Amino acid sequence: MEIKYLTPGPGNLREVMGLMPLLYREIGPGLALVMEELIKDDAYFKLLALDEAGAPAGFMAGGCRLELDFECRAGIIEDIIIRPDLQRRGIGKAMLAEFEKWCSARGAAGVLVPCGRPGFYEKAGFEKLPVTRYWKELPAR
Ligand SMILES: CC(C)(COP(=O)(O)OP(=O)(O)OC[C@H]1O[C@@H](n2cnc3c(N)ncnc32)[C@H](O)[C@@H]1OP(=O)(O)O)[C@@H](O)C(=O)NCCC(=O)NCCS
Repeated sequence: MEIKYLTPGPGNLREVMGLMPLLYREIGPGLALVMEELIKDDAYFKLLALDEAGAPAGFMAGGCRLELDFECRAGIIEDIIIRPDLQRRGIGKAMLAEFEKWCSARGAAGVLVPCGRPGFYEKAGFEKLPVTRYWKELPAR
């Protein structure tokens, strides 16, 4: 199957959001707002994969910023989702390779996955780190 890759714009928000239930068990009203902003923001890497019929096959988003722990500029993976019937065909690997090129062009020395599931990243050469995440809700403005 031939897969087409494109940088999504605001017109692709619905297609991107259609893939989100594959990654998140609970989706609140905030996700569409955050995704809408992310898609518009040129500081982020976004890639949408479409199958031969033009239906969404996968989506990846990430950024690039200074990382104090790693003492460098680093790529940060926000999301990578491939449609279940198209998984294990190299689409995730191809999107990750594009992201790594995008990060290298911005001077990144590595790529960080703040929250990832086991399997794919180990195969792609990532080292698993023992980190605990903390979160605190702030009062609404
Ligand atoms: C994880 C995910 C993005 C991988 O994308 P994919 O297109 O299926 O992966 P690829 O076909 O490109 O696989 C690349 C390599 O990783 C391996 N791999 C992929 N998913 C794997 C998994 N869950 N466990 C073990 N290995 C895996 C493949 O076998 C392949 O190995 P190879 O290079 O030796 O052939 C995709 O399965 C997915 O969307 N999963 C659900 C959402 C998710 O877990 N996202 C990532 C966490 S944020």
